[in-house]
Amino acid sequence: MECSGQVTPQLMMAAGTAVIGSLQFGYNTGVINAPQNIIESFYNETWSSRFSEPISQGTLTGLWSLSVAIFSVGGMFGSFSVGLFVNRFGRKNSMLMANVLVFIAAAFMGFSKLAASFEMLIIGRFIVGLYSGLSTGFVPMYVEEISPTNLRGALGTLHQLGVVIGILMAQIFGTESILGNAFLWPLLLAFTLLPAVLQCVLLPLCPESPRYLLINCNEESKARSILVKLRGTDEVTEDMQEMKEESQQMMREKTVTIPELFRSPIYRQPIFVAIMMQLSQQLSGINAVFYYSTGIFERAGVSQPVYATIGAGVVNTAFTVVSLFVVERVGRRPLQLTGLMGMAVSAVFLTVAMALLDQVRWMSYISIVAIFSFVAFFEIGPGPIPWFIVAELFSQGPRPAAFAVAGFSNWSANFLVGMGFPYVEQLCGPYVFIIFTVLLLGFFTFTYFKVPETKGLTFDEIAAGFRQSAGQGADKYSAPEEFNTLRGDDPDL
Ligand code: GLC
Repeated sequence: MECSGQVTPQLMMAAGTAVIGSLQFGYNTGVINAPQNIIESFYNETWSSRFSEPISQGTLTGLWSLSVAIFSVGGMFGSFSVGLFVNRFGRKNSMLMANVLVFIAAAFMGFSKLAASFEMLIIGRFIVGLYSGLSTGFVPMYVEEISPTNLRGALGTLHQLGVVIGILMAQIFGTESILGNAFLWPLLLAFTLLPAVLQCVLLPLCPESPRYLLINCNEESKARSILVKLRGTDEVTEDMQEMKEESQQMMREKTVTIPELFRSPIYRQPIFVAIMMQLSQQLSGINAVFYYSTGIFERAGVSQPVYATIGAGVVNTAFTVVSLFVVERVGRRPLQLTGLMGMAVSAVFLTVAMALLDQVRWMSYISIVAIFSFVAFFEIGPGPIPWFIVAELFSQGPRPAAFAVAGFSNWSANFLVGMGFPYVEQLCGPYVFIIFTVLLLGFFTFTYFKVPETKGLTFDEIAAGFRQSAGQGADKYSAPEEFNTLRGDDPDL
């Protein structure tokens, strides 16, 4: 059943407001990169005035890594808690409530300099990490649930677009002439307050997810009137019908807890796919670039590393837009596969360029091109798709638990790369990206054999596809073929 729909102002307003949460995640991912040296001197001064001796290099590095990585620890806790909120308070109210965390975090970070306390900065990073973790569940879930089937991929990509715009904003604001200097850095960190205020003003004007209202709260007439507004037409019978079928299906299932996701043969395959998709996103090495690009460019002999980093942010944003426009036409699988392979090839070029740098000076240009193409291929597929495909792989019942597990996997891998990269780089030197190449090829193979195409299928049809393959026994599972039969599609898509 194809529930097609169009982009209406109400739909764009709701999706646009939700992805302010994604922007916050991106902003706080990128914000700590450029002003590293300045904030480190603040740590040093604070330490000296407290203990009357300068901070040791080891302690400073430790404190700095903690300030960067504690954000992902917050993200792990936040993403794992998504299920506690979304069914109890609804999707919209959960997003609204979470902003309290941003207000607290902004205050901690913004006043840390005044209070001469690096502890406050670190606590603030943890709290804004909590918020970001929650957002990586709330936002894709809400956006997918309000979108018509034929636009789910494109609108789902808006989450990632929010993230990349956030990263780019942080990179630009973080330049010395704007906020990345010794006086204004507290404002750079506290800036996150403004999007939170904006979201608090706009969210009350947005509708609750009609799927949540119908399936979880049994409020049929409310769900219908919201759908009429979102779709811009009175003809919402097909959508309603599809949700009711899902609702009936859900009544047959009990509430799905996290352990059940792994125990039940119906959910085991999709949760495995969801986790692998998250791991392929993070273990591709993308955040080695976004946390450490300035250093990588520096070592690659680039004379203006900060501008090259901003360049990476621009490429990142541009290719997310490309993905947004092609994902509904081309499908998820081909984009994910192209992205992973393209990243693997770019990583090889980057390695060659870094290894030959001492002999061949112009290799620094090759390294810029290689990093840009690494980022571009990431945004074609492995950036946006893992976030929204979780909503597609699961029906309403198991969705919150699935988001918790997927989000937790994503953030843990994010933490691992964030903390581990500098050490592994010390060990492997210019060959560090070979590790990502090997992982990328592994994820390519997995995607080829195990990830189904979800384009154009309703949530209910996707769940039916997995039920069908679970019925045939796990070792016979060959999702791509099964889902194509379901849709009657070209098997290459
Ligand atoms: C994805 C990742 C995030 C990364 C970003 C880069 O959203 O989840 O960790 O920083 O893409 O664009």
